[in-house]
Amino acid sequence: MTSMNRPLFGLLIGGLMFTGSAYAVDPLDQLMEESRAAVRDFAGALMAEVNRAAEAGGPLNVITVCNQVAPGLGAKYSQQHQMSIERTALKFRSPANIPDAWERSVMLSFLERSQNEPLQGMEHGEIRVEEGRTVFRYMMAIPTAQQCLACHGTEIPAPITRKLDRIYPTDTARGFQAGEMRGAFTIRREL
Ligand code: HEC
Repeated sequence: MTSMNRPLFGLLIGGLMFTGSAYAVDPLDQLMEESRAAVRDFAGALMAEVNRAAEAGGPLNVITVCNQVAPGLGAKYSQQHQMSIERTALKFRSPANIPDAWERSVMLSFLERSQNEPLQGMEHGEIRVEEGRTVFRYMMAIPTAQQCLACHGTEIPAPITRKLDRIYPTDTARGFQAGEMRGAFTIRREL
């Protein structure tokens, strides 16, 4: 193909893809599906790092992973999926994870829904206009599992408490029971 007709080829392919997706898939369904895939990737990578660190050096070592590796992985998968993906919580440990008003209200609605629905896989997505920009926002609840309690439970071992106190003097992400909502993945993308 010469460089002359390459743009035309691109246009044709782009047009085909556009008409294909525009008629076959509801755009909101597509955004939801892409968000689930991003959460799956991010959560999977995070769990793999946590398990590796736990095997290598126990919970104290895992704090370092949560502190340094989690934000880095968030940045990596944000770039790969071309959307912002992070973790947040109503009771958060790191001030970097403070929810905004929309995230707070969605998490409060998750708490309410969890009286009748399982937390696992609970999600919400919506297209909104924020400060004049059209954005898609999505959240998926993160339940507290047994293995989270060492750092987020009611009886956190003393060495862990000491390290957490040092790194996170304003930590409120403690006192959780297994099964409760620990926080949520949160995605934002401009449309
Ligand atoms: C070894 C300690 C440790 C364990 C175990 C642990 N976490 Fe955390 N968690 C942390 C630390 C440290 C942070 C703060 C990370 C940061 O600086 O972004 C954190 C932050 C979070 C956040 C982000 C919101 C916030 O509070 O800042 C979520 C959500 C979270 N953890 C969920 C979990 C879940 C779910 C599990 C179990 C599957 C778990 N954690 C197990 C130490 C731990």
